Amino acid sequence: MFPKVRMRRLRKENLRKFVSEVKLNLEQLVVPVFVDEKISEYKPITSMPDYYKVPLEKVEDEVGKCLEKGLKSFILFGVPKYKDDVGSSAFDREGVIQRALRRIKRNYDDVVLITDVCLCEYTVHGHCGIVKNGKILNDETLSILGKIAVSHAEAGADLVAPSGMMDGMVKAIRESLDSEGYQDVAIMSYSAKFASNFYSPFREAAESGYKFGNRKSYQMDFHNAREALREIELDVEEGADIVMIKPALAYLDIISKAKERFNLPIAAYNVSGEYSMIKAAIRNGWLSEEIIYEVLVAIKRAGADIIITYHAKEIAEKLSKI
Ligand code: PBG
Repeated sequence: MFPKVRMRRLRKENLRKFVSEVKLNLEQLVVPVFVDEKISEYKPITSMPDYYKVPLEKVEDEVGKCLEKGLKSFILFGVPKYKDDVGSSAFDREGVIQRALRRIKRNYDDVVLITDVCLCEYTVHGHCGIVKNGKILNDETLSILGKIAVSHAEAGADLVAPSGMMDGMVKAIRESLDSEGYQDVAIMSYSAKFASNFYSPFREAAESGYKFGNRKSYQMDFHNAREALREIELDVEEGADIVMIKPALAYLDIISKAKERFNLPIAAYNVSGEYSMIKAAIRNGWLSEEIIYEVLVAIKRAGADIIITYHAKEIAEKLSKI
């Protein structure tokens, strides 16, 4: 008796790509860029091997290098020189992100520029909202988020990405953008953002660690999947154009459920800790660098249309050779 079905028939070298279910598309990979206004040379990030902070004066060169590799979407994080209690440099027209946006758009008009809209990089306490008596105040933070988003839109952002997990942030930002004439600027919301241990290298990079407590009162509890869907649902109702799940690798179930349930683009953030973990293993010779491709394909296969990843540049080089 011969087996009727032989799965290996389609696994021959020349047929594998023919039946492949997903493909990484460079146009849907987003490069995170840490723009630092305090440095004049690229600065390594100790906990993120091969990743650097980019001086504001060189941000357009960095974008240019990525464009040569076929990458054209960027999410910008600011490392400001000035911080205060309310994060006022986040909405300063001469702030690091606002200047970075103008520099990039002046040189390249065909790129996709996304900005992280949050307070943690700009406040002395490092929390994502206004703090009073040790509490993070939701409603008082919303109008500031609106101001930040408007200042980014004015400087050339195509999409704004609120990451602070404040309730009602998408609605507040949509209203601010609309009333200032930026009806066409889209919102990519960090909808299901978990209070995760995977963010610590980012906090070194963005100098955004908190001075007290933790982020558990506003970011999601990682035990909960249905709550994540509820978060996404609320953001969709409030007017999000794209919803994001973050982190990605330990949250593929959420990505997959979100893809089934919602009819708008789904983004996944393959975060700093996920990147550093993989890089550390590769550096030690414990894993081969092929693992990077496998990880990104897995996030795509789970249902992410868009992937934000620190691996973008290295995978773009690889893909051009495949
Ligand atoms: C800002 C923000 C964080 C990340 C993206 N935006 C850090 C945090 O919430 O503490 C993390 C990204 C990463 O780890 O790569 N709120």
